[in-house]
Amino acid sequence: MVIRIAAVGDVHMDEDVVGRFRPALDELPQHAEALLLAGDLTRHGTESEARCVAREFGGLGVPVVTVLGNHEYQCDQVPRVVKVLEDAGITVLEGDGVVLECTGGRLGIAGVKGFGGGFAGRCASDFGEPEMKAFVKTTTESADALGAALRGLDCDLLVALTHYSPVPDTLAGEPLEIYPFLGSYQLGQAIDSAPTALALHGHAHHGSERGTTPGGVRVRNVAHPVIKQAYSVFELGDQVD
Ligand SMILES: [Fe+2]
Repeated sequence: MVIRIAAVGDVHMDEDVVGRFRPALDELPQHAEALLLAGDLTRHGTESEARCVAREFGGLGVPVVTVLGNHEYQCDQVPRVVKVLEDAGITVLEGDGVVLECTGGRLGIAGVKGFGGGFAGRCASDFGEPEMKAFVKTTTESADALGAALRGLDCDLLVALTHYSPVPDTLAGEPLEIYPFLGSYQLGQAIDSAPTALALHGHAHHGSERGTTPGGVRVRNVAHPVIKQAYSVFELGDQVD
């Protein structure tokens, strides 16, 4: 049983980017049965940028599933951005999941944007000022939602989709000082709480491609500046990619 999926993140669409991905996207159905987008689809989260995303990533002939990134929040237009994406047939996940019927079986995808906080030994903690507690609470709630969504899906192969990173491995190349703003170990714990086959994220433009959760789940940073192609293709089911 093999399911092939394509993924990319941080495409940061605006008018000047439209068309850049489309030639490769038109060929995508020959290589994969779904496209997963790891957030930061836009530059500033405006409705007009979302329409650029819809033009570029809509109507591909395979299901497109996304999470939002922090850039989608910049202009406080999240509901309008989500509506434009959904009107284009793109499934937007936030604390929930979807099961796709693929030729190799049922592919379950659970997604959240996620948030920062850092990694074991160097992370923010639920202590002190209310602002710090609110920061950590945001991460905890996001990770809890991801874990519940992953554990709740009835499928043959399970993929976790986030914008923020669940592990420090795929941040290698970024300044150490900003790791706490790029991801959280709590997302990794959520991924390890279910039989996840693959975890995909973006956000870390200067990071690296490959990592593993403490529980042994393979993690891939699919941020466009990292993969340097329109999308990467992953084979699920026989641990090849
Ligand atoms: Fe980002």
